[in-house]
Amino acid sequence: MSLEYQNIKVEISEGIATLTVNRPEVLNALDETTTREIGAAALVLDADTDVRAVIVTGAGDKAFVAGADINTLSRLGPEEGRQASILGQRSFDRIEGMSKPVIAAINGYALGGGCELALACHLRIASEQAKIGLPEINLSIIPGHGGTQRLARLVGKGRALEMICGGQQLDAAQAERIGLVNRVVPHGDLAAAAREWAARLASKPPLAMRYALAAVNEGLEATMKQGQVIEAGYFGLCCATEDKFEGMNAFLEKRKPTWKGR
Ligand code: COA
Repeated sequence: MSLEYQNIKVEISEGIATLTVNRPEVLNALDETTTREIGAAALVLDADTDVRAVIVTGAGDKAFVAGADINTLSRLGPEEGRQASILGQRSFDRIEGMSKPVIAAINGYALGGGCELALACHLRIASEQAKIGLPEINLSIIPGHGGTQRLARLVGKGRALEMICGGQQLDAAQAERIGLVNRVVPHGDLAAAAREWAARLASKPPLAMRYALAAVNEGLEATMKQGQVIEAGYFGLCCATEDKFEGMNAFLEKRKPTWKGR
């Protein structure tokens, strides 16, 4: 199945949706339409219970996303800049807020808004050719699609400031070393490795998956104490599902569980 958009492609097969940013002539740079479409697709895919995992990637062999479209950025006044930032934040919040795992398959340059899009995904796998960075400072702006916040939460304040203030690109190995990407694979293996990872996650019980993502995402916005209250709430919800009984019974009966998503 394939849904129609102008600047992204969304394909769904065997419970896995692949969202491809599709402007290879500008290295998949994010203009307003593209940013809006990413947010719209996230809502549609989140509501589709047949979709159990999502892969986000870029078209072509060179780039994941090379940033916000600098042609558009160059014309923004202050209020338009603020609105563009809010649009990107909301759109990427929808990616992060999805109730099924979202994997960024970073197939090349992930710069600026591209790095921020990858940060909004739950997990990141990179090709050995990936180059990841927040070069906004070199244009005398700062990351505006959640990057200043998500990067510091993911890799720590010191490393985040090194990237945000330095504007340099990290190669895949450096990104893996600091925990910016979960794993690195040879370039030619990226699509298959991302799909294999997505398929493994798609086979997990969907409600426990939803609650795990929510507990981590919501807990990170809270204090430790509040986070543990959130965790206990979701743990309790797991205990209300048919799948919890199925999972435990299957273990005790030494058979494979069959998830119902209830
Ligand atoms: N916005 C708009 N267009 C972009 C773009 C962006 N963020 N990134 C690349 N492009 C365009 C280039 O202008 C070029 O268009 P052209 O063929 O009409 O000249 C095309 O994509 C190919 O890019 P090019 O720069 O020729 O490729 P390269 O291999 O020499 O360099 C990069 C690749 C990624 C290093 C370089 O394109 C770059 O630095 N891009 C901007 C990155 C950035 O600052 N992003 C953050 C923006 S906030």
